[in-house]
Amino acid sequence: MNPVARPQHAADAPAPPGGGAAADRAAVLELRGAAVRVGGATLWRGVDLTVGAGEFVAVLGPNGVGKTTLIKVLLGLLPVTEGQVRVLGQPPGRANQRIGYLPQRRSFDSSVRIRGSDVVRLGLDGGRWGIPLPFGPRHREATRRVGEVISMVGATGYANRPIGECSGGEQQRLLIAQALIRRPRLLLLDEPLDSLDLPNQAAAAALISRICDTEGVTIVMIAHDVNPILAHLDRVVYMAAGGAAAGTPAEVITGERLTRLFQTPVEVLRASDGRLVVVAGRHPGPVGVPVHG
Ligand SMILES: Nc1ncnc2c1ncn2[C@@H]1O[C@H](COP(=O)(O)OP(=O)(O)O)[C@@H](O)[C@H]1O
Ligand SMILES: [Mg+2]
Repeated sequence: MNPVARPQHAADAPAPPGGGAAADRAAVLELRGAAVRVGGATLWRGVDLTVGAGEFVAVLGPNGVGKTTLIKVLLGLLPVTEGQVRVLGQPPGRANQRIGYLPQRRSFDSSVRIRGSDVVRLGLDGGRWGIPLPFGPRHREATRRVGEVISMVGATGYANRPIGECSGGEQQRLLIAQALIRRPRLLLLDEPLDSLDLPNQAAAAALISRICDTEGVTIVMIAHDVNPILAHLDRVVYMAAGGAAAGTPAEVITGERLTRLFQTPVEVLRASDGRLVVVAGRHPGPVGVPVHG
């Protein structure tokens, strides 16, 4: 969560006037007029986005619009063809040691016998931790940290089971623990809720929000439907063919803003339970996926 919205957060100390530390904190992500090409075609252009430390940001938009491609750009796996991108104050790719990443659609077949805690441990890397020998202080520190992140995601009860025997929600928690183990400042999560049922979506959303809050980690989460995370979000980026709109959910998820973005009439309805429904033409769809009528 945005430290401004959560004044109890440690990172909320008043910024020194014009101080460099404040500038670093203010810009975990900065995109200015960014454009990207894949397969010879421009996927999006003119993308402007600033994300501050400890914010929880959702990236929304129809399938194929370029959300996963945005994550590839942030990791330095794909260059932008226009504009500037800074990630944790550096060009993309340079700060990957401080980024945790959960790729899209990861799950383990029921035949996978590796224990959950060993999957979590795979998130450690040689550069920071050395090759953990099965004894000695580094091994003990690694084991302590594995236990700590497993506890942070509430997976202690099943972390010693083969991961293939864990439910989708349990596997997702263990993968989030793996992404957290190196104490990242930025967590990139590509549709982490998409394989979960509604109660597990709500639980995972609350967990990720709590991690954002207590660890001060900036979260960028690609989501198919904004509703399970809406209450936790500081900012959304709505992507459409060609461009993107960024701002607070109240600023961006409006009929006027989405009509302009999608260049087709869009209405945003609020159901009695508070859920948002985007209606494009006469076809309602979940908020992440306007259906063109
Ligand atoms: N390496 C590539 N070469 C050509 N086209 C690609 C490549 N990677 C992705 N694409 C295309 O770019 C578009 C956006 O992909 P992606 O970022 O995965 O979308 P999203 O995550 O929003 O569903 C898709 O049409 C996809 O087929
Ligand atoms: Mg994708």
